[in-house]
Amino acid sequence: MARKYLIAGNWKLNNGGLKGVELAAAVVQASKEVAGLVEVVVSPPFTALAAVSAELEGSHVEVAGQNLYPKDSGAFTGEISAPMLDESGAKWVIIGHSERRQYFGETDEQVGAKVAAATAAGIKPIACVGETLAEREAGNTMTVVFRQLESIVPELNKKPGFGVIAYEPVWAIGTGKVATNEQAQEVHAAIREQLKKTSAELAEVTRILYGGSVKADNAAGLLACADIDGALVGGAALDAAGFAQIAKAAKASGHDN
Ligand code: 13P
Repeated sequence: MARKYLIAGNWKLNNGGLKGVELAAAVVQASKEVAGLVEVVVSPPFTALAAVSAELEGSHVEVAGQNLYPKDSGAFTGEISAPMLDESGAKWVIIGHSERRQYFGETDEQVGAKVAAATAAGIKPIACVGETLAEREAGNTMTVVFRQLESIVPELNKKPGFGVIAYEPVWAIGTGKVATNEQAQEVHAAIREQLKKTSAELAEVTRILYGGSVKADNAAGLLACADIDGALVGGAALDAAGFAQIAKAAKASGHDN
């Protein structure tokens, strides 16, 4: 069964207004040739979600939120729910990014609840996992990633193939220190093996994205790996041409995943 490549741009705390609309429009133009072949997603800050969604209507590019709160409504000042993401046109949401875990204290349990809320609302979760440098150097990469997966996998299994996993080694995020193709593939393969323990179908249909210093010039090698089904791109997603190059590298990748 073929897993379609997914190239998602995480804009983080950038382009929350008109600049976001302009960047989204530029991504559509620059990535036209992958339409229908590679899924392309951009994730503006909440303040630009509705405007970017309106701009992208009818195009091949979809929109993601960067977080959500796992209640639909109520007295939760400052929070955004999955139904609100839906109303603003988002089809996807990034959940449990390492910056949320690190700076905002998100726990594995909260990440699981958010993946559940997104799935229930029909918003496709991009659930993030990944180890820190200290955890890798201590030989704990798989232990940490498998622990993070514990709250995510049962939720993904409620709708196999709907949500995706992003493996983002924390030491590779924003550092220019990309994991080697072999390091990334090793963890991706281990994640897929782990998914198999829940169900063979889940392992087969779940896309596993790599994130961490993905750029136009290193994307092809990563995307050619058997268990890498796309990329979650930070810094390089802020430039439409460079981001589109990554999507084109996915289109050009010969391997049958
Ligand atoms: P960079 O591509 O800037 O390393 O960021 C990766 C990331 O955090 C995507 O979510």
